Amino acid sequence: MPPQESQAPPDDRRPREFAFSDSDFAALRSLVKQTTGIHLGEAKRELVYSRLSRRLRALGLDSFLAYRELLTSGDAQEMVEFCNALTTNLTSFFREPHHFEYLRNQLLLPAVADRRGPRRLRIWSSACSTGEEPYSIAMTICEAIPDYRRWDIRILATDLDSDVLAHAQQGVYSAERVRGLDARRLAKHFHERTQGDSTVYQVVPELASLITFKSLNLMHALPMSGPLDTIFCRNVVIYFDKETQRSLFARMAVLQRPADLLFLGHSESLFKVSDDYALVGKTIYRRK
Ligand SMILES: C[S@@+](CC[C@H](N)C(=O)[O-])C[C@H]1O[C@@H](n2cnc3c(N)ncnc32)[C@H](O)[C@@H]1O
Repeated sequence: MPPQESQAPPDDRRPREFAFSDSDFAALRSLVKQTTGIHLGEAKRELVYSRLSRRLRALGLDSFLAYRELLTSGDAQEMVEFCNALTTNLTSFFREPHHFEYLRNQLLLPAVADRRGPRRLRIWSSACSTGEEPYSIAMTICEAIPDYRRWDIRILATDLDSDVLAHAQQGVYSAERVRGLDARRLAKHFHERTQGDSTVYQVVPELASLITFKSLNLMHALPMSGPLDTIFCRNVVIYFDKETQRSLFARMAVLQRPADLLFLGHSESLFKVSDDYALVGKTIYRRK
């Protein structure tokens, strides 16, 4: 699925390949909300139509009703494809760079300076998409902690979308995706190679070895035991309603100790969502 979807304005005069009724839209919206927490407003009607039409074509179905029946019949594989089709996966390396600066200056460098510290780090990238976020965390760690190989460091990277997770795990990026990375980082953390007609960049095994990728739906119980020094939960709760956000941050809060860090996306906030965290910077929180 493309990371960014151009949203054509609704045009009811345009002949549709498949009939798409109000009740089709309502049923599919409700199913995606229940399964992923993603709230699709009325404005997302065309996006739902275009992304799911591809599924109908791939499955050889001739109506949205038949597709709804397939989903409600308990077809687990199609449920995965349905969720994959409706997630938005836009991401980039060092997106919102001030978060990585804060991580380095306020957590990693003080941990290095603390000679009696535990030399143990647990960081969770909770909606990791195609992997740029956890690899950026790993690069920040390698750069800040010279002897990081002797530390006990684990980055857990999870997402609900199995397609993006497979991409993340492969760690192969196009020239376009690494364009924002400075040359020094690119040379140090990636191997350049040719794939077909293009040049691609493969994350070096040493960087990848810091990260464990796993499938995880944030709507479900969180299986990790904690404590987590840092949680990245960026640009995902924007798709959830307030009640879903409240439940998620309550479950995250029990995994963290006072002063542990939580990073949210640029347009997200815990205002009226959680009192367990204090705002310490732009979209940066610490557990109270
Ligand atoms: C816009 S991307 C954000 C990627 C990265 N965190 C960033 O800020 O660049 C949102 C990600 O959230 C994932 N997502 C949406 N609902 C989810 C859920 N219920 N559980 C886990 N991941 C979810 C999507 O699959 C998508 O990859």
